[in-house]
Amino acid sequence: MSQSVNCYLLEPGGSVQGNIEVPGDKSISHRSIMLGALAEGVTEVSGFLEGEDALATLKAFQALGVDIDGPHQGTLRIQGVGLHGLQAPTAPLNLGNSGTSMRLMAGILAGQTFGSELCGDESLSARPMARVAKPLALMGAKLAMTEQGTPPIKITACPGALKGITYHSPIASAQVKSCVLLAGLYARGTTKVIEPGVTRDHTERMLRGFGYEVHQAPGEVWLSGGGHLTGTTIRVPGDLSSAAFFIVAATLAPGSELTIRNVGMNPTRNGIIEILRRMGADIDIRELPQQGNEPVADLTVRHAKLRGIDIPTDLVPLAIDEFPVLFVAAACANGVTRLQGAQELRVKESDRIQVMAENLQSLGIDTKATEDGMIVTGGTLKGGRVHSHADHRIAMSMAVAGLMAKGRVEIEDCANVATSFPNFLTLAQSVGMKVRGTEDLD
Ligand code: S3P
Repeated sequence: MSQSVNCYLLEPGGSVQGNIEVPGDKSISHRSIMLGALAEGVTEVSGFLEGEDALATLKAFQALGVDIDGPHQGTLRIQGVGLHGLQAPTAPLNLGNSGTSMRLMAGILAGQTFGSELCGDESLSARPMARVAKPLALMGAKLAMTEQGTPPIKITACPGALKGITYHSPIASAQVKSCVLLAGLYARGTTKVIEPGVTRDHTERMLRGFGYEVHQAPGEVWLSGGGHLTGTTIRVPGDLSSAAFFIVAATLAPGSELTIRNVGMNPTRNGIIEILRRMGADIDIRELPQQGNEPVADLTVRHAKLRGIDIPTDLVPLAIDEFPVLFVAAACANGVTRLQGAQELRVKESDRIQVMAENLQSLGIDTKATEDGMIVTGGTLKGGRVHSHADHRIAMSMAVAGLMAKGRVEIEDCANVATSFPNFLTLAQSVGMKVRGTEDLD
């Protein structure tokens, strides 16, 4: 059930108890539509995330002529059209708030025999796209953006023009890597991406699941164009990035014990577990059989007192979406937590360094935003009013802060929680968080 509330109100106190499941993984849900559409034959998906971002990808592929039945309670049936079966859309493809949709689709659409235009909401329209336009241009694609390198992206058809490249990506970004590899499906020869750090590898795992050969060496991944994908069955695991809010909530609130079932534990995504454990968290992991090519586990989290740490920079790309809630963990830890090497946080759905530093500061925590991270001195959170800047992960992280605050916390601009976690409020209430949604604050 989707809850289109704008604001959250949190009363202080409470612990987190229960046994829950979180919605399907957002990254895998996007890719299940994209690869299912480009495959030959039918792809059946279960556990699909019915959040606005993944639905934006779904609608975009329907507009490209792909027959997709669903979602019906997380299940989808995609009638794949093959790599060369997409049809020209009749209007610009609006991808809402979703950077993953735009960057990965830019790679796919650069290889088509028709032109297209990709646009999005206010936040997406301010996000950097030159990072994908540059390698695509090197491959021979024709793309245009605003002078600032932001959307809309206009792609001009240049049939058969793509050629494989070796791309030394300047940033550790799975979206850039995936964009280039997806364009590589349409390119002559081999397309290789060399990365400065490990990033999530769902595209590689899923391409293999669709029968496409993908090669890997440490820091490098490559494929050759001209193959084909075969429809398959995908069970999307629970999203660790959504579970993260509850993992931190259960760790922080005294008396808590929470089990979260069926959570994706891909080693390129689970930096949050390692970081929290180094801070002193008590997280029990019970591995389950792999789902598709993805490791999955049930997690049990018990309250533990945390200490501040220096976060190792090699863990940064492995926890890139979890820093807003990790800053909340740091705010409640004993001592100082320092994050460096995370400048990417400044160009997410909001500037997550600036916004979290200000929000925690306004609740009484000593924070210092730096160019590429933050220094947080643990303390006592007090009540107050904060703003999510229309960023889903800021809204949910501040709800966790509200659980720990000594006074009422009011959070503005939470509607975008629906992009990744439509039932967050209900689930938060069900485990004991004293949160409610409202249209407006007084
Ligand atoms: C994603 C990759 C990450 C992440 C985003 C989803 C993906 O972005 O922040 O939420 O699905 O590939 P970058 O790879 O650009 O860091």
